[in-house]
Order: sequence, then C-alpha cells, then structure tokens
Amino acid sequence: MNTITVSAPGKLLLLGDHAVVYGKPCLVTAVSERLTVSLSPSHDNAMHFDTPGVSDTRFVAAAIEAAQGSWGNRLPPVLVATKSGFSGNYGLGSSAAVTVATLYAIAEYIGRKVTPGELFRLSRNAILAVQKVGSGFDAASAIWGGTVWYEHLGRTITPAASDHMPLIVGFTGVKADTAAIVADVAKKYAAQTERVTRIFDAIADLVMGAREKMAEGDWERVGKLMDFNQEYLRDLGVSSEKLESLIVAAKGAGAWGAKLSGAGGGDCMIAVAPKEKRGQIEKAIEAAGGQVIHITPNAPGVRREP
Ligand code: PMV
Repeated sequence: MNTITVSAPGKLLLLGDHAVVYGKPCLVTAVSERLTVSLSPSHDNAMHFDTPGVSDTRFVAAAIEAAQGSWGNRLPPVLVATKSGFSGNYGLGSSAAVTVATLYAIAEYIGRKVTPGELFRLSRNAILAVQKVGSGFDAASAIWGGTVWYEHLGRTITPAASDHMPLIVGFTGVKADTAAIVADVAKKYAAQTERVTRIFDAIADLVMGAREKMAEGDWERVGKLMDFNQEYLRDLGVSSEKLESLIVAAKGAGAWGAKLSGAGGGDCMIAVAPKEKRGQIEKAIEAAGGQVIHITPNAPGVRREP
C-alpha cells in the first residue's frame, strides 16, 4: 500500500457565530491555509502518530474510531502523519480540518467511496465525542470548501456566492477556549432565554441579509452587517479588549466593517475593506498589537493530494 495524502482547509466564520449553535444560520469561508494528513503502512504492525502542529491528537484518534466503527475495522496499522500550514492557536479550525482529513484519508486508504454527507456525519460525531459542544459548521467548511451557508446544525449546507471577498484577518495572540465560551453562552441562554433568543433571531436576520449582499458583491453593506453582528456578540459578552482594540483600529483605518470570528475571547478578528485601504488597515492592526494573517478565502474543501 502506498502513502495516501489528503488535505483540508482551515476556516473563518464570517457571520452568525454562537447563534449557529442554536440552529441559526452562519456563513463560513474555507481559507487557503491547509492541514495535511498522510497515511502510510506501519513498519511494525502498530498504529503510530506523528502530529506536529495539531494541538490535540484526540481528534485524530476519534476520527479513526469513527471510521472503524462505521466501516468495519478495515484500517490496517498505519503511520498517521500530519502537517499544518497554520498554527493551531489561530482558531482557524485545525481540529475540524484534521478530523475531516483523517476520515477522508482512511476512506481513500481502504478504497471506500464516501459522500460529503456521510463524511460530514462521521466528522461531526468524532468532533462532538472529543469537544462535547459545537455546531459542526467547521467540519462542513472543511468538507465543502468555498463559502457555505450552514443552518439547522447541518441539516442545511449550501454554497454561498462570495466572489472577490476583500477580507483582512488579525490574530489577537490569544487562543480562545471555545468550549468554555460556548458553555458561558449556554448559561446566559438558560438564565435569560428571551433576551438571548432575541439576540440570536436578530443575528439570523443579518446573516440572511449578508448572504444576499455578498452575492451582489456589496461588501460595504456586508461590512455594516458585520458591525451589527459584532454589537450583538459584545452584548452576549464574548468579545474581549484585545479583539475590540483590533476592530477599532481596522475601522479607524477605513474598514467597512469588522468583527470577531469564532467563539470570541481571542483568536482572530476579520474586517472587510476597500482594496486601496488594505495596507493602512494592516498597519493599524499591527500597531494595535495584532498579527495580520495573510490568507485567501473560498479555498477548496477536503481533497486527495498527489
Ligand atoms: O472557536 P471556533 O473557531 O471553533 O468557532 C466557534 C464558533 C461557535 O459558534 C461559537 C461554536 C460553534 O461550534 O459553532
């Protein structure tokens, strides 16, 4: 058996963060930074893992378990080797990317045809087995690639048009604890269900508006909607001082709009901006203590590599 190599993209959540956990829609784009998983025959009949750049190897193990459970223990002992084009600290979705890539690599290795839907179901279960919480949007993004409209916890996954997305990304330097922040929001939801439901409904409305404006290429309006989304996220208490200062810096330097991306508390902020302002916005983000991450959106989903 030869080595099988598969890659899956990282992701950025454009709009709909947190509300998506409650079945509302989000828009997510796959990014050019990819994570690679290779499977090759084991030299000694035992499983081996070589996973630099993957902060949590439990996702690889959960993916193998899910594959063995569904496809009947057909994977012989292999060496699983990962390589990441991005730091696991950025919040670009390395856990979902490694889960999806491992499952797809196993399917290729054992010669099993797998549909995107089946891959999604298995990946989502594997991620939930480790992380306990999460909407599954990140697995969908890693599988389908491009920009995806994700709703009803994965019962609706459709491509969204989003050409020439003028996206700028700033890393706060802080790794967010997604599970803890999602649990905090769940507590707020339990204590103030009506208020938080109103926030989620309002977020759903603006995500819907953003899908239309993205398809029209009206990025100025998408920026405004990102600003509104950020206000709701701030209301939910998931933003942070560092995120706010990078967002203020980007807007002060001419961005149409900016918001946190993902769970909040840290990770990355995103902005959309006119092309001619990109340079000054990147400088402003760096002056505010952020690290600009150069990625392109709308990357292809999981695929076999030569
Ligand atoms: O922290 P990330 O990038 O995994 O994003 C979390 C997004 C949430 O909506 C807060 C959780 C989820 O799984 O949808």
